[in-house]
Amino acid sequence: MEFHFIEPEQGGRQNQSHNASYLRKEFEIHGKVRSAAACFTACGIYKAYINGKEVDTQILLPGNTSYGARLQYQQYDVTDFLTEGTNVVAAVVGEGWYRGKGGFPTGSGNGKKLKFMCRMEIHMEDDTERIINADRSWKASQDGPVRENDLKAGECYDARREFEGWTSSGFDDSGWHGVLETSYDGTLIPHEGERIVEQERLKPKEILQTPDGAIVVDFGQNLCGYMEFSVTGHKGTEVRTVYGETLDENGNFTVKNLGFRTDKKTGLCDQTDRYILKEGRQTYKPSFSIRGFQYVKLENWPEPVEKDNFTSIAVYSDLKKTGTLQCSNEKINRLISNISWSMKSNFVDIPTDCPTRERAGWTGDIMVFCESATYQMDTYRFLKKWIKDVMLEQGEDGRIPNIVPDTGLPGFMSGAAGWSDAIVKVPWILYQFYGRKEILEAAYPAIVKHIRFMNRRRKKRKIWNIGKGKHWNYIIDTGFHWGEWLEPGTSLPSNALKAFLNPDCEVATAYFAWSTGKAAEIAEILGKREDAEHFRQLYGKVKEAYRIEFLPDGQVHADRQCRYVRPVALDLIDKTMKQQVVAELNRLVIRNHYRIGTGFLSTPHICRVLTEYGYTDTAYRLLENEQSPGWLYEVEKGATTIWENWNGKDDRGVPTNSLNHYSPGAVIGWMYGSIAGIRPAEPGFRKVRIAPVPGGSLTWVKCTYESTSGKITSNWEVKDGQFYLDVTVPVPAQIYLPDGTEENVEAGNWKFSCSLK
Ligand code: BGC
Repeated sequence: MEFHFIEPEQGGRQNQSHNASYLRKEFEIHGKVRSAAACFTACGIYKAYINGKEVDTQILLPGNTSYGARLQYQQYDVTDFLTEGTNVVAAVVGEGWYRGKGGFPTGSGNGKKLKFMCRMEIHMEDDTERIINADRSWKASQDGPVRENDLKAGECYDARREFEGWTSSGFDDSGWHGVLETSYDGTLIPHEGERIVEQERLKPKEILQTPDGAIVVDFGQNLCGYMEFSVTGHKGTEVRTVYGETLDENGNFTVKNLGFRTDKKTGLCDQTDRYILKEGRQTYKPSFSIRGFQYVKLENWPEPVEKDNFTSIAVYSDLKKTGTLQCSNEKINRLISNISWSMKSNFVDIPTDCPTRERAGWTGDIMVFCESATYQMDTYRFLKKWIKDVMLEQGEDGRIPNIVPDTGLPGFMSGAAGWSDAIVKVPWILYQFYGRKEILEAAYPAIVKHIRFMNRRRKKRKIWNIGKGKHWNYIIDTGFHWGEWLEPGTSLPSNALKAFLNPDCEVATAYFAWSTGKAAEIAEILGKREDAEHFRQLYGKVKEAYRIEFLPDGQVHADRQCRYVRPVALDLIDKTMKQQVVAELNRLVIRNHYRIGTGFLSTPHICRVLTEYGYTDTAYRLLENEQSPGWLYEVEKGATTIWENWNGKDDRGVPTNSLNHYSPGAVIGWMYGSIAGIRPAEPGFRKVRIAPVPGGSLTWVKCTYESTSGKITSNWEVKDGQFYLDVTVPVPAQIYLPDGTEENVEAGNWKFSCSLK
């Protein structure tokens, strides 16, 4: 099939204000249509119409891929859209991820010219065929209502300029200009992601007049999306809506925590929309911009502000919900909800760090969160699509970038430990949860390249580490590494500085070992015996080097919790040593008054490590601790999503950094896998393992997980020192009770009890 593209802006970017481009073509149909199919895509984002009707309710099409390499197109049966006589196919095209500001550090796409593709095949009853391509016969205009558009910066919409009836026949487009024919250099692929759609609609919790006099709508929930509003006023009045996640310590609206600055010339900051009214009552929501927000500051509102006129609309990929989890502690339930909202906010076609500041496909964030995500929603299709982009952007030398799709981060930063290991971790988790070898097969070449890259890296040495002993041959001390990242009490700039000046070789060596070990297992699963043996040997050597260097006498000599969690969680030491290391971790956590001390990389593991080695009480106290830093401290402070930084708000309520990063919410993997105790005993849950761990203040837990093998339920209750478990499994299962009893059961509903004394 041939796809033709047009450039609506006549010779590239015509104006700096990024007006959206409106495109239309009229064509005649004589006779009866038997069937018709249409394909659309754009370099940019588009919305397509046929004869006045939107073709799809999906938004932000064509979705976010590595545009340099591949671009999705969408395909529709449009038979019912067409009619005998004059027909119109139309589209509006904006910047999107292709040419916008979202992303880090430079903005998302490096795209220059917006492009649009249309191919419509019409099969007539008389067996003739018509093809409508994007070609020179289309007309374009940049004079429509969308005067400025940027996914992150916001939109300027002038309702006075709306083109009445432009997507239908009879519209006079004689003032519109022609278009250029162009092409797209990458590969066009049919849509392979999930649908991005509008989801929850929330009404305001409160309309606030803040101490500085501003009018602020509080929706009570931080999320990613936009606000729809209705307003009545006079033609030409400009209202502004500024979106933020929080109020500051004085109760005033702020975007400072997101690092947004107000442009001196325009008086605007990112996540601001301007709307210029037409006469009378009107309703508006942006189409080319999404943002992270709970609060919206209204400026120059021409009428009294009524709750009824405002709705916040969440936007994310339409993944099926697979997990539910509830317990007797309401604060933990709020935490579970916060984690789910942070996931939804960062699952807009690709997994991102936050929906505000960077909005980027940081590999490390999903590396730590993919298991947690997969308990909550069916991530297979979504993550498989993203992993393909990771593979496409892997360097020739095997380096995995920090951000995929690429947003301009310098190449030397690629291959960062923990971040780049997403190429192993994500397919591995998908295989465990869905049991499909195809994901391992697809990722395998990239995994091998990644290990080879690290294997070459370990052979280079910093001058001051030369001659330190043979085991140093297997230590990685070069490259750029983010390290544990954002342990409590540390700041984002200081962590970044450390990553530049003194990257952590303990983290780098640990992940080198872990990924190599997993590569051996994956090779074995795929029947690649020789590779498996090679990786196993390398894994053994790296593990040994790690142990000699970082646990010289079998002990960790450090006061950071992550140093104890890592060798255990990543399986770098033997069982006896693990027992001793976790005992020490337990002491360290108690000395820290049961407060969390880990950063991004070890937070998903700390509670699991503690429960697996018998320190259930400590794990629960860590989870239920309400002092700073801690998960429930955030809940206590009114958080509705997960903070990027444990120090997200101090006692005075000064907000720092993003308040919507899912990574520290990766504790939910432990809640499903240990508190409720549901895990795959075999890949794809062909066999289930249920090993609940009661503890803390919890008197009951209710958990379901919709696995590929069917629905699993694990409900438990603690009463008068007795533990009661009610499980439903669709396949055979191994049940482990807290008193050590083990049972093997067939599919069905089973009840157990035991004493907790
Ligand atoms: C992002 C993170 C990311 C990190 C790299 C931050 O600015 O928001 O989530 O993983 O940089 O360490």
